Amino acid sequence: MSIPATLIRGDGIGPEIIEATLRVLEAVGALFDWDEQTAGLGALESEGTPLPDCTVESFRQTRLALKGPLTTPVGTGFRSVNVLLRREFELYANVRPVKSMIPHQRYDDIDLVLVRENTEGLYVGFETTISVGGDPRAVAQSTAIVTRQGCERAVRFAFEYALANGRKKVTICHKANILRAASGLFLDVGREVADDYKGKVEVDDVIIDACAMKLVLDPWQFDIIVTTNMFGDILSDLMAGLVGGLGMAPGANIGDDAALFEAVHGSAPDIAGKGIANPTALILAACMMLDHVDEEENADRIRRALEGTIREGTHTTRDIGGNASTLEFADAVNRRLG
Ligand code: NAI
Ligand code: MG
Repeated sequence: MSIPATLIRGDGIGPEIIEATLRVLEAVGALFDWDEQTAGLGALESEGTPLPDCTVESFRQTRLALKGPLTTPVGTGFRSVNVLLRREFELYANVRPVKSMIPHQRYDDIDLVLVRENTEGLYVGFETTISVGGDPRAVAQSTAIVTRQGCERAVRFAFEYALANGRKKVTICHKANILRAASGLFLDVGREVADDYKGKVEVDDVIIDACAMKLVLDPWQFDIIVTTNMFGDILSDLMAGLVGGLGMAPGANIGDDAALFEAVHGSAPDIAGKGIANPTALILAACMMLDHVDEEENADRIRRALEGTIREGTHTTRDIGGNASTLEFADAVNRRLG
């Protein structure tokens, strides 16, 4: 196999967890033909822009990418490159599964999927500040854009994913009681789409704040949750917490003709450069990438080796209770791959 794909190592812990992931992919002989490109803070420093044209061009050619996390400055500076890529390539569904692998956790047997609408809502960046009485930032305004088409394709993706993966229920998560326009449209379109799957996939809906509480008290009542961009961003970190933290949660950004795979977490500047980051989230994202190119067998082999290593617990990283380095952990996974 030699499938062309774009590789972006990214910022902070990105290069460390990408290295670990490449080793594991090599161990199963999953030979992507990598076109290595840059993005994020590193690209700004080396090339004067956080999203070089050649990176966009590479992804336009390959339509398939594995990406480390990218640092986005808070408040000022360049806008999120992640958001730009998702919008530019219409990667409208962000699939974020969480599954228990670490023994003796607060929660066992978690197996949930969040599908996040990935191109609209408050994250479109329609923002402005209004000057009053000499204060240039007396008022701030952020506008959410939600379209029927955007809701429809994200929710339909969630139902199709349910069918394809033997999942029983889709929960539409919203705030239509307060955000009647934006969240109301998402809920209404969601219910319309659900009608097409009557008798095949169950549907229910829940208000976002109650959803957060229910996820903590009784996460097993959920199966797939589909929601708008910002709610999905927040809930997916919460859900990562159910299975041991951000080091455990992968994500796939999927569009009709392109897909980009990454971890849910960011560049973790607090631990960058120390060689201690947990590569599990990115390795699991690479497994989703293998699934995507019909290499499910290799993906399952890696998942089994990963889970075996984590359950044994002698070569895991410190965020999940061990003291191995990023690469020691990856090498332990590889020994299981034989
Ligand atoms: P973060 O997800 O980078 O880190 C939050 C906490 O989780 C930190 O304590 C970190 O050490 C820990 N953590 C994250 N991943 C870990 C791993 N693999 N192993 C062990 N511990 C891990 O979130 P934060 O600090 O809010 O954001 C840092 C930067 O990342 C920001 O610039 C943000 O914009 C960016 N970011 C980028 C994303 C992407 O590229 N898709 C997604 C989320 C944030
Ligand atoms: Mg996030």
